[in-house]
Amino acid sequence: MSGEEEGTLCTVSFSPDGVAVEMVRGTTILEACRAAGIAIDAVCGGTGKCGRCKVRPKGLFDPGDTSALAEEERESGVVLACETLVTGDLEVEVLPRSRIREHQILTRTLETPVVKLSPWVRKVLLELPKATLYDNTADFERVLRALGDRNLEMPIVTLRNMSNVLREGGWTVTATVADLKSRGEITRLEPGDKCGCLLGVAIDIGTTTVVGQLIDLLTGDVLASASEYNRQISKGEDVIARMMYGEENGVGELTDLARETVNSVIGRLLEDTSKERECPVTAVDVVGAAIAGNTIMTHFFVGVDTRFIRLEPYVPVAHHMPPRSGHDLGMEAHPSSDVLLFPSRAGYLGGDVVADVLASGIHRSDDLAMLIDVGTNGEIVLGCREWLVSCACSAGPAFEGGEVSSGMRAMHGAIDSIRVNHDFATSYHVIGDERPNGICGSGLIDLIAEMYENGVIDRKARIQRLQTDRVREGEEGLEYVVEFQGSLGEGATGDLVITDADLQNVLRTKAAIFGAATVLLRKMSEDLDGIDTFVIAGGFGNHLDIDRAVSIGMFPDIPRDKYRFIGNGALEGARLALLSEEMRKDMVEIFDQMTYIELSVDNDFYDEFTSSMFIPHTDLAKFPSFKDRGSQETAR
Ligand code: FES
Repeated sequence: MSGEEEGTLCTVSFSPDGVAVEMVRGTTILEACRAAGIAIDAVCGGTGKCGRCKVRPKGLFDPGDTSALAEEERESGVVLACETLVTGDLEVEVLPRSRIREHQILTRTLETPVVKLSPWVRKVLLELPKATLYDNTADFERVLRALGDRNLEMPIVTLRNMSNVLREGGWTVTATVADLKSRGEITRLEPGDKCGCLLGVAIDIGTTTVVGQLIDLLTGDVLASASEYNRQISKGEDVIARMMYGEENGVGELTDLARETVNSVIGRLLEDTSKERECPVTAVDVVGAAIAGNTIMTHFFVGVDTRFIRLEPYVPVAHHMPPRSGHDLGMEAHPSSDVLLFPSRAGYLGGDVVADVLASGIHRSDDLAMLIDVGTNGEIVLGCREWLVSCACSAGPAFEGGEVSSGMRAMHGAIDSIRVNHDFATSYHVIGDERPNGICGSGLIDLIAEMYENGVIDRKARIQRLQTDRVREGEEGLEYVVEFQGSLGEGATGDLVITDADLQNVLRTKAAIFGAATVLLRKMSEDLDGIDTFVIAGGFGNHLDIDRAVSIGMFPDIPRDKYRFIGNGALEGARLALLSEEMRKDMVEIFDQMTYIELSVDNDFYDEFTSSMFIPHTDLAKFPSFKDRGSQETAR
């Protein structure tokens, strides 16, 4: 391609969206999707490995490598968006399963009442004596005198406009005073009495989604909740892919995308609240923010390098990011607002888990509790009032739609619960009550449990040769047909199947979680029976059937009434810290108290992981509810 040709603009239009963008010849269809604002599944970050970014283009293009696609897909004109170069005008259809659609983002929290409201920001009404020839003290000192605290500071942005505000208000002003930093600050001055409005935001920055709440700091009420996909997804599905992107391209782009997402969420919170109150609520009214995220998301949001988190010994730049202003972090908030970032315990155990613990209250209880937050990583905390230990295991993306051919996120079109009938046909529930496009995490757990119960797989999760058209030889060995193409959602290019390789990926994920939990217990000389409460945090618990998760050996076989769901613990922890000084102290204590165990160098973990690569486990004594069934199967 000549230099002139490379600079040629081509029109790429998307159907049925009716959106068109001008792209330079030689760019990829994936880049065109991003430019057009089409959310497309790109699990591998555009490296051609995951086979998720399926599109059907018409026009001039170079398809590149299509080896990640099935033969029948290639024959029907499907290509990978990340591999396909735009060489002329194009019309592109994004396959339904490759679209990221409405997601079941978890905004639900416990909303624990805060007994004593003590946000770090307060408003004070000041009625100042007017400056005269006989009292010509400078304006700033006049404000300090009225507040009775000569040690308060004032950011330069507030200082610049202070004199005008004092006079505009006729020497009656409202001062916003913040006590988060080592020295208190007057972060905002408003003319007149504005004491009736004091707002803050609580934000959970997840690898996949960003969730926020707008909080009335005077009453503690949640005024609005909003969520959005983390726009960094276009640079890689998981934290490793994004760190690698950051190493190659610098973290700037990832920082911008994280901030854009946070600001979009805040924008929606303000819009919803303005509608509700029938008066405008604007970004400058937001005077405080508490943010919980995993270590990598926190680093990107602040704008610092993550390279040494990815490499052994996995060291973050800082555990405690010092409080920053909204301006420093490019936030849609008052420029002098203080932002509290939850401290991260380790490279792979972040502030979101500290917030989970805070929300769960396990650090204040005499009972022994285990808390688990399952995402691409599984984070586990064990402990009580006296002590806390934690670890993280690489659970893999199987429960978030990755590494499983029929996997998808928990969004419309995903099977979230399923039964295998005696004739090996299936009955299932689909999110959004539509035809299925794939299976999400809770559906996969159900499916494996059901396949095992009905003899479709053995204890090693290997598909058995059965006299049914549901089990057949596929391109990669035996596969089980979950649903035939005719019953699937629009754009399906084949039957919905689960293969032996898929099952092994799910088995590895559940084994990593159970193995990590077992190692943590052993380190503290505790056992499964000693657990009083088992807390599940995060979106994963949303659709989960505990009995099924226990039956495949993912969670311990303890009385089911010991299980407790806390919803989005990271968001709840952020809300609590925003509203209560006691909770902010607890946050620091949890961080100080929590020991982190690195599993990647732990031989015990490897042994436990290997023992857990069975349904439910090699040691059936650990799963008394399923012991008989397992023994029968072993005998068979
Ligand atoms: Fe295109 Fe993964 S194959 S994003």
